Amino acid sequence: MSESKEIYFPNREFAKQARIKNMCEYDELMSWAKEDYEGFWAHWADEKIDWFEPYTKVLDESDAPFYRWFTGGKLNVSYQCIDRHLETRKNKAAIIFEGDRGDKQIVTYQQLHKNVNRFANLLKNRFGVKKGDRVVLYMPMIPEAAYAMLACARIGAIHSVVFGGFSAEALRDRIIDAEAKVVITADGAFRKDKPYMLKPVVDTALEEGCDCVEKVLVVQRNNEDVVWIEGRDYSYNELIEAESDVCDPEPMDSEDPLFLLYTSGSTGKPKGVQHSQAGYILWAQMTMEWVFDVKENDTYWCTADIGWITGHTYIVYGPLAMGATTVMFEGVPTYPDAGRAWKMVQEYGINQFYTAPTAIRVLHKMGENEPEKYDLSSLKVLGTVGEPIDPPAWKWYYEKIGGGRCAIVDTWWQTETGGHMISPLPGATPIKPACATFPLPGIMAEVIERDGTPAEPGEQGLLCITKPWPSMIRTIWGDPERFEKSYFGDAKKDGKPVYFSGDGAIVDEDGYITITGRVDDVINVSGHRMGTAEIEAAIKKHPHVAEVAVVGKPDEIKGESIFAYIVLKNADDTFGEEAELAKEINQVIAKEIGNIAKCDTIKVVPGLPKTRSGKVMRRILRAIAKGEEIKQDISTLEDPGIVAKIQTCVIG
Ligand code: WTA
Repeated sequence: MSESKEIYFPNREFAKQARIKNMCEYDELMSWAKEDYEGFWAHWADEKIDWFEPYTKVLDESDAPFYRWFTGGKLNVSYQCIDRHLETRKNKAAIIFEGDRGDKQIVTYQQLHKNVNRFANLLKNRFGVKKGDRVVLYMPMIPEAAYAMLACARIGAIHSVVFGGFSAEALRDRIIDAEAKVVITADGAFRKDKPYMLKPVVDTALEEGCDCVEKVLVVQRNNEDVVWIEGRDYSYNELIEAESDVCDPEPMDSEDPLFLLYTSGSTGKPKGVQHSQAGYILWAQMTMEWVFDVKENDTYWCTADIGWITGHTYIVYGPLAMGATTVMFEGVPTYPDAGRAWKMVQEYGINQFYTAPTAIRVLHKMGENEPEKYDLSSLKVLGTVGEPIDPPAWKWYYEKIGGGRCAIVDTWWQTETGGHMISPLPGATPIKPACATFPLPGIMAEVIERDGTPAEPGEQGLLCITKPWPSMIRTIWGDPERFEKSYFGDAKKDGKPVYFSGDGAIVDEDGYITITGRVDDVINVSGHRMGTAEIEAAIKKHPHVAEVAVVGKPDEIKGESIFAYIVLKNADDTFGEEAELAKEINQVIAKEIGNIAKCDTIKVVPGLPKTRSGKVMRRILRAIAKGEEIKQDISTLEDPGIVAKIQTCVIG
């Protein structure tokens, strides 16, 4: 416990030049938001956004929880991210790209403008993509992925980026759900000096049920051979030069959808989280400025993939909206060795570095002293995201990477929140290691019980956001009821439903918020969110599986690992070796979802611990996976004896 009392104060020199310089300034902003919520947000919307037409209402709550922000306003997100910078930053690097093999490319704001306009014209004129049409991106980490996103934004098309690690089946489900008209992909890319492929996955996905897709645009990256379907497949590299580099940005309503991003919930299929234009881009930009405190001459690097929300908000939209230089990296930070990331920090003079705790733990393990070989003195702010960070990893990051001089911003947020919600401010917040600290100014995050009473200090409660905020999820694509039920069905404050994140958290006696992790059936593996229901549905496709329950098991590197309990259809079926069955099951998962959802442990058990009403008691399964003693009452189980039997299978 004493560890959590340790406090790290902001670097004084840094604080002097920071946008938010101390806790008094933080308190003032927070008080302002509490006293005049709409006035607070109107101030920033006026200051930060280049409106084509002013909005008429700040916040419309008439159809809660379908909140609407800055209604009546018109803007264009690609204009906000590119055009408005041309006067002052024409030749500034917008994107610095480094390929897996070390190839480099710098894209200035002017070049970005031309590339995005050509891309937008290609989509609009050649492919007939119109405002409101959905475009799915299945792309590697190359600048063209950013161009594609911004081109969609420019013409008002709604993009849905699908992470390149998802399988053909998972991609297909997302294409069909969004009824996408166009898919943008690449032949493939490079990882660890080897080519890998994406286009063949798209081909397989499109084999069934994707009649909505008219055209596939293929960017050549690794130049490997791919199958070509005439009339459907088009080469970006061949077409793009012929397109005009002038394309007027489509004036968009504040509340028009900007993009969909599918994410996992505790039940059912993935949810298409829908984000808006104005509210999203406003908060993306503000959090870039407040949380990373990026300055005009800085070089900022976020190691996420554009297939996740972190890549959307903090590689593409946030940095470009504020006119920053964002680094995009195709490879992995462990290749060719554990010094790759630190070498890049030195090479580009990275000032802000943002990554996941899993990456920090891996790099720490691979090369405790590796960072000493590089000059990391350019670093000012370090960030983490996606999962809780543990104190040892935090300390290594702080001391070895940050040289004891950089604040670590442990940013808590979600696909649904669009941008950071709880995070230290690098120039202001006294930091407790491995603690997300306080809500950002304007964000009413609270840890409460279901009825809205604040959780006692030190006790876990539900992490809720009790007032709508501009960058919040607007709905689940095609399923508004699920939106309402998933996020506004669990907790109330003053009798009014409030947004519940699915996470638990603890507030300490000083008001610091520590995230304890999901309290629903979502697991977090290496910062990737996965629904146990989805994994279970995939495993059930194996012909020998009768029942399955999947739980998360704490893992030193990945945060959580996936642990599956399997009941076979035929109890006598030993299925040869258990290892053989495990291999087959993981193949099914790889096909249905992707390699990221493979199980680390698969155990065949005689039955699952169920209540008399048939509900699987996952808590018991989690405890058994951890090797813990079962303390809870098992007498309510249909067959209490099953617990010991499962334990024998797991230990044996
Ligand atoms: C978890 C990623 C602890 C949390 C941006 C959340 C975190 C889920 C943190 C969202 C953090 C995110 N500390 N846990 N700093 N940040 N999480 O939608 O469980 O991929 O609900 O968005 O990641 O994952 P998502």
